Amino acid sequence: MSTRPTTTVIDGIAHLVTNDPSLGPSDDGPPLGVIRDAAVVIEGDRVVWTGASRNAPAADDRVDARGGALLPGFVDSHTHLVFAGDRTEEFSARMSGRPYTAGGIRTTVAATRAATEADLEANLVRHLREALRQGTTTVETKSGYGLTVEDEARSLRVAARHTSEVTYLGAHVVAPEHAGDPAAYVDLVTGEMLDACAPHARWIDVFCERGAFDGDQARAVLTAGRDRGLIPRVHANQLGHGPGVRLAVELGAASADHCTHLTDADVDALASSAGRTVATLLPGAEFSTRAPWPDARRLLDAGVTVALSTDCNPGSSYTSSMGFCVALAVRDMGMTPDEAVWAATAGGAAALRRADVGRITPGARADLLLLDAPSHVHLAYRPGVPLVAGVWRGGVREV
Ligand code: NIG
Ligand code: FE
Repeated sequence: MSTRPTTTVIDGIAHLVTNDPSLGPSDDGPPLGVIRDAAVVIEGDRVVWTGASRNAPAADDRVDARGGALLPGFVDSHTHLVFAGDRTEEFSARMSGRPYTAGGIRTTVAATRAATEADLEANLVRHLREALRQGTTTVETKSGYGLTVEDEARSLRVAARHTSEVTYLGAHVVAPEHAGDPAAYVDLVTGEMLDACAPHARWIDVFCERGAFDGDQARAVLTAGRDRGLIPRVHANQLGHGPGVRLAVELGAASADHCTHLTDADVDALASSAGRTVATLLPGAEFSTRAPWPDARRLLDAGVTVALSTDCNPGSSYTSSMGFCVALAVRDMGMTPDEAVWAATAGGAAALRRADVGRITPGARADLLLLDAPSHVHLAYRPGVPLVAGVWRGGVREV
């Protein structure tokens, strides 16, 4: 008996976005590697063939894409999905003019501490499912609403049961019981809390911002994590100018996230990293906090690698829709549809230092998003419309 995994051919694809650089850029845009009238063959959890539909090899099963577009599943490289409660009232007050501050995080910290592990897990799973239905097949998520040794470790344990992209964010804000002594809290985050959390995480993050952690504190957190094998990423320059972006580049962080307020020196630093530190833009946060849009055009023109992510969290950006973020980035941040779709797929993969997702090429994971639309441009052209016609994750059809 053969143990060869089942093969499936998806044909009838009007427009296949491979993100394969060897297939060339569309004009002078990002290397989307578009193939028209295409087919894809998957075997087990992998893509094994892409090309023109007429040349597709036979397979065990066949799916007709009916003239839709097929893209890599979205890679959402920045979310905060281990939480309890919601902040509807804070959002409503904001829409009536109250500004967003980092202080709102403490509301979610109280709710998260009070929740059971089972409730936290159920809430995480519900949001991951919500994202999957909208085409997201890879999700990074963080702690940061526990802020005690036990609550942070618990958040990371829960997250690690559902994704390999887990980030320790004990340094989200100073825990309420250490409000009078931030230095003691940084000692905890870099000491006992790190000991408890490092085994469950791949990444370490810090909210480097007024009202959270300054440059020296952020450096202490990130270098302590790096010494334990965690790779840095940084919440940087969201609410104002500051040292976060330059610190991220200096420490070789995988990403500087938000990048809403940038000086020329910040942009130069990101560009000089030559793609090592990805600028992850989170337009859901600017939408929900009525903040100025990050200037994606300026970053792209400087040669910076840009990713788009949702930042999904109950405070500053309660959307799990990567399609919505693509639409905002095109409408308001100076990105072309090609650039935005690349940033939401290959860009996210770069921010997570993953070569197996964010592309549809032989050997890549079979994480696929089928649209009921003739091209990826419709994600921005038809904002808010449920265009998802199919989603495969690791070769398994989920939607
Ligand atoms: O990325 N900026 C810091 N953390 C989150 C907000 C978290 C919250 O408000 O609960 C963010 O926007
Ligand atoms: Fe965030």
